[in-house]
Amino acid sequence: MSAALAQAPQSATPIIEAVGLHTYYGNSHILHGVDLRIAPGETLALLGRNGMGKSTTIRSMLGFVTPRRGDVYVCGERVNGQPPYQTIRRGIGYVPEGRGMFPNLTVRESLVMAARPGLNGRKDWDLDRVLATFPRLAERFAHLTGNLSGGEQQMVAIGRALMTNPELIILDEATEGLAPLIRKEIWGVIRTIKDTGIATLVVDKNVSVLLDLTDRSMIMVKGHVVYDGPSSELKQQPQLLQEHIGL
Ligand SMILES: Nc1ncnc2c1ncn2[C@@H]1O[C@H](COP(=O)(O)OP(=O)(O)OP(=O)(O)O)[C@@H](O)[C@H]1O
Ligand SMILES: [Mg+2]
Repeated sequence: MSAALAQAPQSATPIIEAVGLHTYYGNSHILHGVDLRIAPGETLALLGRNGMGKSTTIRSMLGFVTPRRGDVYVCGERVNGQPPYQTIRRGIGYVPEGRGMFPNLTVRESLVMAARPGLNGRKDWDLDRVLATFPRLAERFAHLTGNLSGGEQQMVAIGRALMTNPELIILDEATEGLAPLIRKEIWGVIRTIKDTGIATLVVDKNVSVLLDLTDRSMIMVKGHVVYDGPSSELKQQPQLLQEHIGL
């Protein structure tokens, strides 16, 4: 082994890692060799214009669509071909686009139903902590989620993910369609999640907020990754943001 390799820091096993994903919808080739890795506790922004493959990347990693080529590892174990519920059980809290509410369940039922210990029996997050994080949900505790505002439903969706004591939370367009004040509240919660050491993968159209919030950013263009690096460095490259995101 060369001296340089011997001295390289032992990088921790990624929470999730995708290697060379190629995904198709029918005959449409959507992902063209996407690589993505998230280290424990790391916050990653997945950026790109509409239709560039952000949600497809997430759906491919979790097994909602099956990539034609490439591998996915969760905490070092290959999960190719496993159904989403099995992959998610390995420590992933997934908040999908559109929130995935059960409108006939109350806030309490939605949260309690999701409760489970994390990997190694971790129980940092329980009902009390979720309600303390989202005081608004405490006020709406007995309401049906179908009767909540969009922002409150989003809080239920994130609260539900936290109740599973995840190692990684994936938020796909969590603030879409929400009023500015509620958005700020959601970003505050993402910051709290980050501070507690949970890794986060965030997709959001509010790029400037994400660049401040996240450790690392990836930009996707037509199913290719065109940037993967520190968010602080991307912030210094307005020409890249202009070219690929239109800022
Ligand atoms: N179920 C589907 N069947 C066929 N094509 C799809 C399907 N879902 C997405 N696509 C197409 O795949 C491409 C990537 O879509 P994807 O939803 O991954 O983009 P995205 O980056 O998440 O966009 P957005 O910002 O609009 O959410 C788009 O061209 C889209 O039209
Ligand atoms: Mg999407």
